[in-house]
Amino acid sequence: MSLRKLLVDVHTHVYLPRYASVLRSRSNVPRILTRNTPSGWKEDRLLILDDEPTGGRPVGPQYWDREEKLKFMDRHGIDISVVSCANPWLDFLPFSEALILAQHLNADLESYCASGPLVASSAELKRLYGFGLLPLVPGAPADSLSEAVTRLAIEHPHIRGVIIGTRGTGLGLDDSALEPLWAALAETGLVVFLHPHYGVGSQAWGTRDNGHVLPLALGFPFETTTAIARLILAGVLDRHPNLRILLAHSGGALPQLSSRLASCVEHDPVVAGRLAHDVRWYIGRLWFDAVAYGAAELDFVSETIGRAGGYGTDILPSGERGRKLGASRMLFGTDHPFFPPLGETEKWPSVVENLEAIEEVERWSEEDKAGVRARNALTLFGLGSS
Ligand code: URA
Ligand code: ZN
Repeated sequence: MSLRKLLVDVHTHVYLPRYASVLRSRSNVPRILTRNTPSGWKEDRLLILDDEPTGGRPVGPQYWDREEKLKFMDRHGIDISVVSCANPWLDFLPFSEALILAQHLNADLESYCASGPLVASSAELKRLYGFGLLPLVPGAPADSLSEAVTRLAIEHPHIRGVIIGTRGTGLGLDDSALEPLWAALAETGLVVFLHPHYGVGSQAWGTRDNGHVLPLALGFPFETTTAIARLILAGVLDRHPNLRILLAHSGGALPQLSSRLASCVEHDPVVAGRLAHDVRWYIGRLWFDAVAYGAAELDFVSETIGRAGGYGTDILPSGERGRKLGASRMLFGTDHPFFPPLGETEKWPSVVENLEAIEEVERWSEEDKAGVRARNALTLFGLGSS
């Protein structure tokens, strides 16, 4: 098959069996608990959020079984998945335990990918690659994080990046103690997948029972928005221009708020002058998954980030040129195994919506769409000769 026709999923999760058994052993959130249903069956429930609506979510082999991941991929025409541990990663463990578990889970993930199948008609491309884990928890010494990055890059060829949350070692991603970590990530070229878990401001959700809707739809993306804004304002991308960061959920509210953020910086005597570039310049140098569920949103994000990259330069790419540049930084994702269908369906609506959204961006060319479906990911992760 021509590489141009592939479909690559860069936002797809797993709780590897070793991780799932840690969750099963716990009596506090995050945990997996087994309960009896009224009809006498036993069912596993996943409780990971702090303000978890009662009962959590159903969880099963889709979360840990590689065969289920491959079946899901086949069912939706996905050729390659870049798989990551789902939240909350190792955040709840003391450093000493996180360090050891990260090493074991990274080795597990390497073998999950390496012993998996090849893409049909390719002698070299695997169907599974991964984002590894770091012991990025309170108390982690800075040099242990950079050592973990170097080790990951050397020992695990199928691991092409790391997934991280927004808290760093407790003080967020603008903590200067993380400098050696950013340096190591920039040096190795591992892609940083920034993903939310905690949400922000849950007091805003009120008291009506809206299930997981508000924390997932609004809290998650706004957490990502805040975390990456803090990282940019701290000058991390000035000091580490080779750092490659992929934002979950199309960057949350960042594209929509990018010019407002830039304006607030320019009008603030504390921050103005701290950065080498207009804030939007950095935003145009990030990568964004295409997990936005709508064509209008993808169109908007592509044009906004494409244009953003031109601020402070002689060329401000607007219209088609902006969208093209932006589209080259967007990558298809599913968020599997989250958002399963509520009833029996062959294909998952959450996946179909994201595929249709790409198809329906009228102002993207077929070339742009092929990029979002596969080529951008192949290039970013160094897979095959794209
Ligand atoms: N819910 C989660 O907890 N994590 C995801 O990645 C998506 C939905
Ligand atoms: Zn996710």
